[in-house]
Amino acid sequence: MNPDLKKILYTKEEIAERVTLLAKRIEKDYAGKDVVCIGILKGAFIFMSDLVRQIDLPMTLDFMMVSSYGAGTESTGALIVKKDVDSKVINGKHVIIVEDIVDSGRTLYYLKKYLEGRGAVTMAVCTLLNKKERRVVDLTPEYCAFEDTPDEFVVGYGLDYAEKYRELPDIGVLRPQIYAKAK
Ligand code: IMP
Ligand code: MG
Repeated sequence: MNPDLKKILYTKEEIAERVTLLAKRIEKDYAGKDVVCIGILKGAFIFMSDLVRQIDLPMTLDFMMVSSYGAGTESTGALIVKKDVDSKVINGKHVIIVEDIVDSGRTLYYLKKYLEGRGAVTMAVCTLLNKKERRVVDLTPEYCAFEDTPDEFVVGYGLDYAEKYRELPDIGVLRPQIYAKAK
């Protein structure tokens, strides 16, 4: 285990199992529909790549980069769009936004608002992790691999702290002293 971790929360085997279940649900729900998956960089890149390879449907893929966090661990609520998608990517499509984690919910709440009016037939959120108890806005993801992520800072499988730990295959809880130092 990486020495900066307090404990492993979800092993790579548990993650793989949940991602497969989610992919099969999406495959069933979106059969016959024109789907675009939009991954939110950078955190969702590993989840997205594992997920879409198990959804046996034709689809298009794209990415956005938005931020509300910076190097710290508290969301500011302001959405900064660093990389957008072309409107024709969304127009007439069933959009699935793929995110690593929903915390306060602000990022996705504002992102959904931002994408409204661009012609999506439907818009759904698919997240790997969900810190339900941290929610401050009305945002419920339609698809979620792990519903009750504890209120601790987690890293690995794409999730970072200050750009580190994304490459770890499991998801673990970061030792509090690691991010306390940065504050
Ligand atoms: P929200 O806007 O508060 O829902 O924040 C969502 C974003 O915050 C996610 O996309 C992550 O980038 C980041 N985030 C929230 N909690 C964690 C965590 O425990 N580990 C890593 N990133 C997190
Ligand atoms: Mg993110």
